[in-house]
Amino acid sequence: MRHDGGMSSPRPLVDSFNRRITYLRLSVTDRCDLRCSYCMPERMEFLPRKDVLSLEELHELALGFIERGVSKIRITGGEPLVRRDVLELIRALGRKVGDGLEELTLTTNGTQLAQHADDLAAAGVRRVNVSLDTLDPALFERISRRDRLADVLEGVAAARAAGLGVKINTVALKGLNEAELPEIVAWAHGRGYDATLIEVMPLGEVEGDRVDHYLPLSEVRDRLERRWTLTSTADRTGGPARYVDIAETGGRLGFITPLTNNFCDGCNRVRVTATGQLYACLGGAEMVDLRAALRSDDPDARLAAALDTAMRIKPERHHFQIDRRGADPAQPRHMSVTGG
Ligand code: 5AD
Ligand code: SF4
Repeated sequence: MRHDGGMSSPRPLVDSFNRRITYLRLSVTDRCDLRCSYCMPERMEFLPRKDVLSLEELHELALGFIERGVSKIRITGGEPLVRRDVLELIRALGRKVGDGLEELTLTTNGTQLAQHADDLAAAGVRRVNVSLDTLDPALFERISRRDRLADVLEGVAAARAAGLGVKINTVALKGLNEAELPEIVAWAHGRGYDATLIEVMPLGEVEGDRVDHYLPLSEVRDRLERRWTLTSTADRTGGPARYVDIAETGGRLGFITPLTNNFCDGCNRVRVTATGQLYACLGGAEMVDLRAALRSDDPDARLAAALDTAMRIKPERHHFQIDRRGADPAQPRHMSVTGG
């Protein structure tokens, strides 16, 4: 594939609602070493390995997006660090930082971050998002079905020691970590990490009913406001979070509220699964198959056409709802397939 832009300057990615797409979330595997109960069942069926893109294909794909004006790439999963060659991809894309890419980031559950933090920093990653729903070992095991909190905490500390910026992502879960949320925020801010709270989204079948643990962040925010002084900021980091500054902790707290407050207006992103399916919306079925384009005999042209199609089919907004007990998920695929 050609990456010099060719004779004509490549067209930026703009969807039919005039939103410029500059942010790619690239899943490198749907596998994970945890089994968070809101995310997947214990016996999760993973994608067949033969369908997963090779390292070279992921690299080609990412370069194709950069050529079309994507300036931010987030490597995600599943858990990206369970894929053995992911550091190679990150090193290769790290070389594009400052040369087409503005930022290369990673979302991780942190279990293997301690082993990789220095390499990530050396490769050009500046910030990582670490998913962490509780600081209590027993509750961690209850939520994730694995006893790995100590590893995650070690990973977070290693990331800080390596000079990486850390953001802690916490899914707000009624009756589970609900009472602990202020403590998690204070813990994060006390160590210089940003924190973001996320509403649970109806993606993929899990055991049990997500409605049981759905906690609207509007409620959480009200409760935090009774304890602390929150000041809304206009700052955005290119993602869907809205931020407040907390006077007492001196830190910043994000809210990702797909259910209580739709954030689609400013959507600037698309997601690609580890098998090369581009999903135009986290909450929608609109998809184009980039793997077929990559594996065709004219990958340049086919990929360009597929990205144009993606821009045409990207929906105006998602249609999540989580108000009905026993309802089917909004989408059958799990978050671990499309990436966080
Ligand atoms: N709803 C909300 N967040 C989810 N995550 C995984 N599945 C869901 C879901 N159904 C979160 C993870 C992680 C981020 C990548 O997405 O906990 O923080
Ligand atoms: Fe793994 Fe993240 Fe899903 Fe938990 S939420 S099972 S860490 S992919």
